[in-house]
Amino acid sequence: MSPPKFPFTNSRRTFLHSVGGALLVPSVSQALCEPPGTPGAAKPWRADCRPIRARRPASTLAAAEIQKLKDAYQAMRNLSVSDPNDPRGFTHQANIHCWFCSVSPTPVHGNWQFFAWHRAYLYFHERILGKLINDSEFRLPYWDWEISTHRQMPGAYTAPNNNSNPLWNGTRAMSPTDELPGEDVNEDVMEPVYSAANFGEFGGGVGYSGIPEGSPHGSVHVDVGGFAGDMGTFDTAGRDPIFYAHHANVDKIWSDWNKGASSHENPTDPAFLNLSWSFYDENKMWRSIKASQLLNHETQLRYNYGLSRFREILPCILDWIIVRPPWKLPTSNLYRITVPSESLPVHAILNGRPSPRVSMLPESLAARLGSSNGGKKGNTNRTAGLTVLALNVVRLNTAKLGSAFPRLSTALM
Ligand code: C2O
Repeated sequence: MSPPKFPFTNSRRTFLHSVGGALLVPSVSQALCEPPGTPGAAKPWRADCRPIRARRPASTLAAAEIQKLKDAYQAMRNLSVSDPNDPRGFTHQANIHCWFCSVSPTPVHGNWQFFAWHRAYLYFHERILGKLINDSEFRLPYWDWEISTHRQMPGAYTAPNNNSNPLWNGTRAMSPTDELPGEDVNEDVMEPVYSAANFGEFGGGVGYSGIPEGSPHGSVHVDVGGFAGDMGTFDTAGRDPIFYAHHANVDKIWSDWNKGASSHENPTDPAFLNLSWSFYDENKMWRSIKASQLLNHETQLRYNYGLSRFREILPCILDWIIVRPPWKLPTSNLYRITVPSESLPVHAILNGRPSPRVSMLPESLAARLGSSNGGKKGNTNRTAGLTVLALNVVRLNTAKLGSAFPRLSTALM
């Protein structure tokens, strides 16, 4: 029997949808799948009071940040050699994934545990990496493969492309210059993901998976690992450091989906909220964490995904903005604000008067603005009595923005 593979095509995804956990046959290679600790003996996870820091796109890390990432993984790999029993070593870290997918009586793929469990796994992994380089501000990077220019593996993971690089893995099917096929990660794949109407569609339920688990998630696994490489099968995927950057992006997609609409809520069913898993923490303490303790990654787990998407900064803008532009505005009484953004030029057009509060943008005007944007309809979002129309328009001078809206630019730092 061969180890379980990641589902990776649409037909496979449909298959997974209809049969739930059927792919998750227990592995024969249980030697890889050590139980992650002593069941029943875990202490409860304690509230994390570290500073909130951003996980960032792996392809945009500065040289010093790449070095830190490499140092952290090197230290984790070294630990596996210097103390093979240390649960924080890289091999043990990888084997956690193996156990939870192939041995655990309640596997974490193919059902609503998928997003929450992987969030918890990455969280403890990230804290251990930070501890090993003595940096509480260390956060994992993410591989944002849905962006068309980021479809090669991020350079840190492939340069150098040999075992002197602690982020390298010798079993990959992708070369450093290969790109993920668009059909696995492009807008056609992401659109149904972001627009999944409820958590069941997005994140699955008892016995079935949500839309993204098969594709893009599983597709990327198989694209990177092929069928023979570590990334391509459940049992070994955690052995490739790219796994954690891939899953940070999967986690970000959950975060983006939550923020995309007020109806995009996580389950409130106690059966979900009380799901609980245990991991060793950065001090080798065996700890249990519940799904309810990780649904807000920013306040609970102390990381966010920066400001790269409009839907992430909208609540911040609404909270901070006081529209008093010093320059004459182009048309009627519209105020146009450009939001500096890492990856996506996103702009908000707010309707209002130069008064402390922005007033409601009439639906009719919103529609008109929407259709004047090259035929593309803007995203309308109504929050606290405001309608904000987001359009991709020309980038304005952000320096001007900064002086016009000092509080806003502070908020966006
Ligand atoms: Cu636990 Cu990407 O799989």
